Amino acid sequence: MNIHLTSPLDMHLHLREDEILSLVTPLSAHSFCGGVIMPNLIDPVDTKRKLLAYREKIIDASHSDTFTPFMTLFFKPFSREELESVRDDIIGIKLYPAGITTQSENGVTDFNDIMATLEAMEELEIPLLVHGESGGFVMDREKEFCFVYRDLAQRFPKLHIIMEHITTRNAVDLLEEYENLSATITLHHLLITLDDVAGGMLEPDLFCKPIAKTPDDREALREVVFGGHPRIMFGSDSAPHPRHKKECVGCAAGIFSSPVALPLLAQVFEEAECLDKLQGFISDIACRRYGLVPPEKNITLTRKAWRVPERYGSIRPFYAGKEIRWSLV
Ligand code: NCD
Ligand code: ZN
Repeated sequence: MNIHLTSPLDMHLHLREDEILSLVTPLSAHSFCGGVIMPNLIDPVDTKRKLLAYREKIIDASHSDTFTPFMTLFFKPFSREELESVRDDIIGIKLYPAGITTQSENGVTDFNDIMATLEAMEELEIPLLVHGESGGFVMDREKEFCFVYRDLAQRFPKLHIIMEHITTRNAVDLLEEYENLSATITLHHLLITLDDVAGGMLEPDLFCKPIAKTPDDREALREVVFGGHPRIMFGSDSAPHPRHKKECVGCAAGIFSSPVALPLLAQVFEEAECLDKLQGFISDIACRRYGLVPPEKNITLTRKAWRVPERYGSIRPFYAGKEIRWSLV
């Protein structure tokens, strides 16, 4: 038995730089026809010059595979002229509240300072991608941030706002209220809860931002994904960190999932008896919401089990050492 997928897209992807970029980009390009590239490099991608240079490096690293890097700029207050000059080179601008996750120190501290930029983005039809967490108690951060999402969705009704990697029932409920909100959901948040991260022995490989939540939150995500919600798209949030940054004091947040994403999604959708919804989740919905015409790429998965490697270079992938029933042909 085979599954045929057309032009899979990863709508939230960290490719990093240098050796990690060289290692992980081909793994994404092997499965996906394109990805939305996160700008949180050590020196954030916050100018057109840096963005174009980074895009070249990604294209070089993807070798001959068809893979379009859909670039994002790191949000800072931009003038209308700056936005106009970069508009055709980006898919959107990624906003991080300052200090909320890996390499977000230069993010936004006061939302009152950014209204003019958001107004210009709305006029120029540049989507706003948001890491939606407050600085509160770790399990409540996304719920608390829903007030900000609500405020932005109301003030800028024509701004396309993407709630990145949502993890809670609160965020799912909020999405229903405003047509200009979309969301990405990761593979790992469909599978794990806080129990998997810290309920037994601590699992650094499952530590990520936003932290995995309760079984009820996971259920809410599964309901909308398996139901084919028309504004929810797949974004892996694959975020590689070398082992020495995970297995140490001060473990870095991030799960490296791109090599297992499609086979494991197929397994999860099969178990939920909704394989007919997979194409929408991994491509069609994103194309509609963003108005994208993706590069053509046909991917076949076959029902043949494989064991996920313990490592790719220095990085342990999600599901390391476990068996997945579907493999990429
Ligand atoms: C991401 C990273 O490592 O860059 N980490 C993560 O846990 N998801 C940043 C992010 O998307 O929050
Ligand atoms: Zn991310």
